Amino acid sequence: MTGQVLQPSGDPAIDWAARHMPLLAATFAEQGSALSGLHVGMTIHVEPKTAVLCQWLLQAGARVTLTGNIGTTVPATADALRRLGVEVLGERTDTAADRDAHLRTILDRRPDLILDNGADLILRLAQGAPPSERFLGATEETTTGGMHIRALPAEPDFPVIVINDSRLKLLIENELGVGQSIVQGFMNATNLMLPGLRVGVVGYGPCGKGTADTLRSLGATVLVADLDPFRRLDAIVRGHAVVDLPALLRGSDAVLLATGARDVIQEQHLPLLRDGVVIAGVGHEGLEIDKAALRAASVETVSLSPADGDADARVLHRLADGREVVVLHDTNMLNLTAAGGNPIQAMDLGLSLQAQSLAVIARGEADWRGARAVPDAVDRHLASELVALLSER
Ligand SMILES: NC(=O)c1ccc[n+]([C@@H]2O[C@H](COP(=O)([O-])OP(=O)(O)OC[C@H]3O[C@@H](n4cnc5c(N)ncnc54)[C@H](O)[C@@H]3O)[C@@H](O)[C@H]2O)c1
Repeated sequence: MTGQVLQPSGDPAIDWAARHMPLLAATFAEQGSALSGLHVGMTIHVEPKTAVLCQWLLQAGARVTLTGNIGTTVPATADALRRLGVEVLGERTDTAADRDAHLRTILDRRPDLILDNGADLILRLAQGAPPSERFLGATEETTTGGMHIRALPAEPDFPVIVINDSRLKLLIENELGVGQSIVQGFMNATNLMLPGLRVGVVGYGPCGKGTADTLRSLGATVLVADLDPFRRLDAIVRGHAVVDLPALLRGSDAVLLATGARDVIQEQHLPLLRDGVVIAGVGHEGLEIDKAALRAASVETVSLSPADGDADARVLHRLADGREVVVLHDTNMLNLTAAGGNPIQAMDLGLSLQAQSLAVIARGEADWRGARAVPDAVDRHLASELVALLSER
């Protein structure tokens, strides 16, 4: 597909990922020149696959300033990128205030292009943070970020491409990639056996669907709750038990939160939780359970984390009536915290959508203001490349 190769990064995990990312290599072979000489300000999980994107950007002649999301930065990846010349702001242990400062620093550097994740940078620009004189536009990874941008009183006066608004990404990354890696993260974090386990999946969008379907294929009994009747119907016809949230909480040994919405599990839901229930996050930020309410209801909080692991890997909350609730990784995305992130091929596709969308903006082909979906031509081109790649073996 491509004749170009990356130089070793100094981190075997990044090099391993690069070996399995042919779409991204082909993307830079075809379109990397559009990004030469540009400064890209990025916020994305700092882990080996995204590091491969940074390496390709550097090799194409771009400059990169990067910060991660809370709780998901891999220290070895950040160190390797710094050695390669990427300005990486922040650490795994950053607080929300730290991340806020890093986002401000990225904008202070006046990048020409933005790669955003949650619209944190784009909203600041839209609300008046001064852009670079030759600012070209931005990509936004998430649908939620796209919704924030579309809800602004006035859309930004620059083009934004919303990467999650791509049929191809929803299938390959959100459904299949997240589904596999969340379940892998659950198994890594708990060492529990899935056959016989009753797992509740809250939210049956592509991420919840992939998670629920993977769990069931490995022998778990799956309960699904969703507010949207179409999503509930989809879950029923795929053979899952569809219930309301209270019934799901009463009936689940483990609960995986895949809505992306805030405070889905609230104070009034805590009495419904089974003794010993394990709760973990799939959605973009660890905000789907009201943590203040859980803390207030707990008479004791104990870390059950392995000595060599993150302190928040397994945290037990003992409630006043003696029931125990175990929260994994503060409900941050379990595939990123406990399974090395999405599978490499899923991110090869997702990051190729990112790179091709950045190239569309850099070439001046994004002749609109505000948020739009990934151009159909980009989606179709990558779908054809992926079909060819998977068929030619
Ligand atoms: N872990 C990862 O690697 C990863 C990758 C991609 C996306 N995400 C995140 O995962 C989340 C889900 O993504 P998606 O593409 O499936 O999103 P989506 O919006 O298509 O699906 C979310 C579903 O949750 C349902 N929902 C919302 N509030 C609810 C509530 N209170 N109770 C029950 N159901 C509720 C919605 O009706 C919807 O069907 C998002 O936050 C997304 O950013 C995570």
